[in-house]
Amino acid sequence: MAESMRGLHRSHRCTEVSNQNIGETVTVMGWVQKRRNLGSLIFIDLRDRSGILQLVFNEETVGAEGYKKAESLRSEFVIAVTGKVEKRSAAVNENLKTGDIEVIANDIRILSESETPPFQIEENSQTKDEVRLKYRYLDLRRPDIQRNLMLRSKVAYLMRDFMMKEGFLEIETPMLCKSTPEGARDYLVPSRVHQGHFYALPQSPQLYKQLLMCSGYDRYFQIARCFRDEDLRADRQPEFTQADMELSFVDVEDVLDVNERLLQYVFKEAIGVDVQLPLPRMPWQEAMDRFGSDKPDTRFGMELVNVSDVVKGCGFSVFTGALENGGSVRGINAKGQAGMPRKKIDKLVEFAKGYGAKGLAYLAVNEDGTYKSSFAKFMTEEELDALVKAMDGEAGDLLLFAADKNKIVWNVLGALRLELAKELDLLDPNQYNFLWVTEFPLLEWSDEENRFMAMHHPFTMPMEEDWEKIDSDPGSVRAKAYDIVLNGTELGGGSVRIHQDDIQEKMFEVLGFTKERAHEQFGFLLDAFKYGVPPHAGLAYGLDRLVMHMVHADSIRDVIAFPKVKDASCLMTEAPGVVDEKQLEELGLEIEIPAEE
Ligand code: AMO
Ligand code: AMP
Repeated sequence: MAESMRGLHRSHRCTEVSNQNIGETVTVMGWVQKRRNLGSLIFIDLRDRSGILQLVFNEETVGAEGYKKAESLRSEFVIAVTGKVEKRSAAVNENLKTGDIEVIANDIRILSESETPPFQIEENSQTKDEVRLKYRYLDLRRPDIQRNLMLRSKVAYLMRDFMMKEGFLEIETPMLCKSTPEGARDYLVPSRVHQGHFYALPQSPQLYKQLLMCSGYDRYFQIARCFRDEDLRADRQPEFTQADMELSFVDVEDVLDVNERLLQYVFKEAIGVDVQLPLPRMPWQEAMDRFGSDKPDTRFGMELVNVSDVVKGCGFSVFTGALENGGSVRGINAKGQAGMPRKKIDKLVEFAKGYGAKGLAYLAVNEDGTYKSSFAKFMTEEELDALVKAMDGEAGDLLLFAADKNKIVWNVLGALRLELAKELDLLDPNQYNFLWVTEFPLLEWSDEENRFMAMHHPFTMPMEEDWEKIDSDPGSVRAKAYDIVLNGTELGGGSVRIHQDDIQEKMFEVLGFTKERAHEQFGFLLDAFKYGVPPHAGLAYGLDRLVMHMVHADSIRDVIAFPKVKDASCLMTEAPGVVDEKQLEELGLEIEIPAEE
């Protein structure tokens, strides 16, 4: 039977009670984690979001009725207990914050009973994800998730705190928008008043924050919900949160400076990690050449080596063929892995194929200096020696090569490098390697669309020194765009924006926009820019990803209270759901589901 808490006030959270309170009377409230009956004594572990406190019931102190209540307690009952804090009589529990004290109950109320939960509420639950997410409200009781969400709240607070001190204003931007040019698929919301018309949920506040710069709010900040209908992965959700900012009268240096100090502040205050400034920087081209990735994990080496010049003219047609097609041959050196069993190497080949490789050539340098290789028979002794030398190969090393178009070679070796690092345990989770990747290409060729696309977005400023090549060699023009990378994850990204008509017009032309289409899509921004626009730049973090890294979570779901699963549905509420015929009618919509093939 549920009792009321009339007249009672919680005096402490569980772990706010300490040996400083010995002798005092406290009132605590929470959930029953565990009950142990020891003859004439009952021990209860009481849990709230602060942690666990041991309660002791004996008939003498709590009375016959109270003792009976204590006997009836089961997991997840919600109780209120008043009692005296004492030094633990039995063994001190070193693992608990409150391990040296206990509360001797003199009053108990059962505020709510609980059915047997579908899984035990405990840290590092082995329960299947589907069950956890269906009962997310129970899953959220688990101490590890509670810690994640508490840290997330603190990180958001620290960011706001820092930004306010730096003179940023927090301004909210609409959720019901026109679509933004970020490139993912939009979530659409039908309009009832304007039937046949749709709002788009924002993929980011990009256009609004640029407009705010036009309006003179020269430092803007927002913790903003964003929506993107894209394939989900371990670090992607259909709705996620950005810590978003924009600044006026600034260039790249100013944005990087304020963000480095922001990261330093947040990491120190939230998790006690010292971030040394300035953060290292690497141009995009160098990141690709050395790590095969625009978000390199720099916690370990195993860098890519371009051996195209070394294998030019050799007898192995896989290598020479790739070079003739305008590609390259590059390799990585897995130090000390020459003894890797054939089966494992075959697995790496399959892994590489998953990233678009046609194959993966390997060469192991045996301890006696001889080679074991998938392609040795196509090359002379001298050619092999030169290749091994170029790779810094020593006895015991395993060299792995990919030959193809640059993009594929980078992709394959970049992924292989990370895979090997995981397997060989080279990744220290307590090391935080930040890196700015700068000077991204302005444009990216799309085979699908058969045109250049903006790599970041169409408002990104080209680098002045490259702009003259926009007609002759558009692919080589670099942008004033930057990403902040942490241990191989893109935490955030941004750019300096174009504020001059002529450059913007040219950009649209290169991207294949007609004047009309540009105006149709972004007319309000282009118009706004006619009335005095300051030079401006900005950046946005994925807040979920940032917190995910701080708590070493494997999935972004572990830092989001109510996440969606891979098919973008919510297992708890069963969203998305069907709606009433009447609702559809009001919106002027009719549903036609194509018959399955
Ligand atoms: P961008 O598209 O790079 O830039 O997004 C910024 C950051 O948001 C995070 N992010 C995501 N996190 C979780 N799930 C997703 N589906 C997801 N998509 C992106 C990433 C990413 O680095 N308006 C620009 C920023 C700017 O130019 O100022 C923008 O949105 O951590
Ligand atoms: P093959 O001549 O097809 O038997 O290939 C010989 C070796 O080269 C095998 O180890 C293949 O996995 C490897 N290989 C094939 N294509 C490529 C490629 N594009 N890049 C690197 N290695 C490759």
